[in-house]
Amino acid sequence: MCGIVGIVSNKSVVKPLIDGLKSLEYRGYDSAGVAVINDHQPINIKQVGRVELLDQEVTHNDEAMNAIIGIGHTRWATHGAPTTINAHPHSNSSNTIFVVHNGIIENFKEIKILLENEGYKFISDTDTEVIPHLIDYYLKTEKTFKQAFTRALDDLHGAYAIAALYTKTPDSIYVARLSSPLLIGIGNKENYVASDASAIINHTKQVVYLKDYEMAVLTNKSVKIHNFKRKTEIIPKTEELDFDLEKAKLGNFPNYLLKEIFDSPETVRLASAGRVRSGSNIIKLGGLENVKEQLKYIDRIVIAACGTSYYAGLVGEYLIEEIAGLPVEVQLASEFKYRSEPFSRSTALIAISQSGETADTIAAIKKVENYGVLKLGIVNAIGSTISRITDAGVYCHAGPELSVASTKAFIAQVTVLTEIALSLSNGNSPLFKPLVDELSILPEKIVSILGQSKNIEQLAKKYSKYKDFIFMGRGYAYPCALEGALKLKELTYIHAEGYAAGEMKHGPLAMIDANFPTFVIATDSTMTDKTLSNISEIKARGGPIIALVSEGNKSIKSYTDDVIYVPKTLEQTQPLVVATALHLFAYHMAMALGRNVDRPRNLAKSVTVE
Ligand code: AGP
Ligand code: GLU
Repeated sequence: MCGIVGIVSNKSVVKPLIDGLKSLEYRGYDSAGVAVINDHQPINIKQVGRVELLDQEVTHNDEAMNAIIGIGHTRWATHGAPTTINAHPHSNSSNTIFVVHNGIIENFKEIKILLENEGYKFISDTDTEVIPHLIDYYLKTEKTFKQAFTRALDDLHGAYAIAALYTKTPDSIYVARLSSPLLIGIGNKENYVASDASAIINHTKQVVYLKDYEMAVLTNKSVKIHNFKRKTEIIPKTEELDFDLEKAKLGNFPNYLLKEIFDSPETVRLASAGRVRSGSNIIKLGGLENVKEQLKYIDRIVIAACGTSYYAGLVGEYLIEEIAGLPVEVQLASEFKYRSEPFSRSTALIAISQSGETADTIAAIKKVENYGVLKLGIVNAIGSTISRITDAGVYCHAGPELSVASTKAFIAQVTVLTEIALSLSNGNSPLFKPLVDELSILPEKIVSILGQSKNIEQLAKKYSKYKDFIFMGRGYAYPCALEGALKLKELTYIHAEGYAAGEMKHGPLAMIDANFPTFVIATDSTMTDKTLSNISEIKARGGPIIALVSEGNKSIKSYTDDVIYVPKTLEQTQPLVVATALHLFAYHMAMALGRNVDRPRNLAKSVTVE
């Protein structure tokens, strides 16, 4: 969702600025813009739609091309429609101050009224536009732009990452953050700011992550940071970016989604490397070493996450309860934040997030900060906010996930949750050895599912005419059913629901007829017979059925219209093979309908607003 990039240099910044915006495109956006200053003259260009259009317009502007300082933005509208006027950068009326902003200014209405009473005129519907006007207002009394900027920050509530330019100090970019990611890149005679490392990785790997309430002034020679709440100077702490752009490249795949689904076997390997060894009786999770002693006193785990990460959390609930015998509760981070529930110090919170930047999940972590609860993270994006605000955690190591729909991250999250469950069991579970052994051969089993891509494609062609779908399963297959339905919804825009198979007769069965197919996950388990009864109930009502079953299940054909076979594996590792098949199904359904699989409509990759 939304992105910021800013560069101050001693040579033209337009191309790297636009390239930076292009590398932020995967996050999802609806409009884009840049503001540059050339010889004290500002040039502000904005466009609805793709960065490519902006690129064409900016590169035809000679004045802009000479600029050596600039800021750019990809907007994902929260306040006001996606129009050129609402696109960022926003400016004050005299066009001396330019601001790009990610996030939401929650008290923008109050500020707007105050400023309007002072004679300020607004042209957009955004919350962001209050920022340049507010800085302008404080410039009337403050001596420097930095002071006026800081005064404005003191007034803003909500979540923001901001970058600003002032035509009278054309060598400086002013930036600040609160609850929205922002990092500074240190280059050679140029410095950068970005909301996401991918925007600057081509230029530098030396970065400083800004923390909440920090602001910075960047010139091409220096970076000065201070905490505007505590009014203290901060010595910048430079870190080396651990981010591999190569891994994110497409190769021969037609889109990132298919590539990332095909990354699944390697994802299990990478998430297990150095942690799980067949024959060994320990699981090595380096990220939890620091909190090893605390973990011994934990008697309850709360998992908070959103979307696909939440479904991985549900699989984790089954895993940790069964393998480690600890009670687990999984909550949607967006609900968790507003619930009043008792906590004790013996509770651990596990936040799961691919991006590590999801606002709701960050809010869930912040909520428990005052309870002395141990905060753990299962995060993919290295160095992201969640990885930094948790006490400890386990990285997914799935590499950059660029497609908006999360696939390989789910696989990595479930792998890591299995490892955490095994580690919490202290080797005492009878499942320990079988699971450790199974994890080492699982990648090959996933490869064999990927080998069925063509068959699944044929199936998708047959089923893409339907307007509704139910996914159902029991036990470990239940969270998989939820994930299968979400993936179908977001990739195809077809109405789909996930259900616990036993719940069908409590309501959803009423919807079943010849036009309402059911996708049943009936892989071998202690409950397979019960799921078969649920299949019969659907068949009796004329509903078409696709069943996903374990290899060797011969009887299933008589109950269903179509079957997908997946390799036999332990019940606890079934989500990893089942999810891969479900991801492929949703992918081929979307392709059959001609959807943009990497960028589904209305969605963003990283949801940094509540
Ligand atoms: C699902 O495919 C995603 N589009 C979405 O539900 C995602 O899983 C959710 O927004 C959470 O993101 P996170 O893992 O980056 O926190
Ligand atoms: N709230 C701002 C707007 O709607 C910023 C949205 C974003 O983060 O892109 O313009």
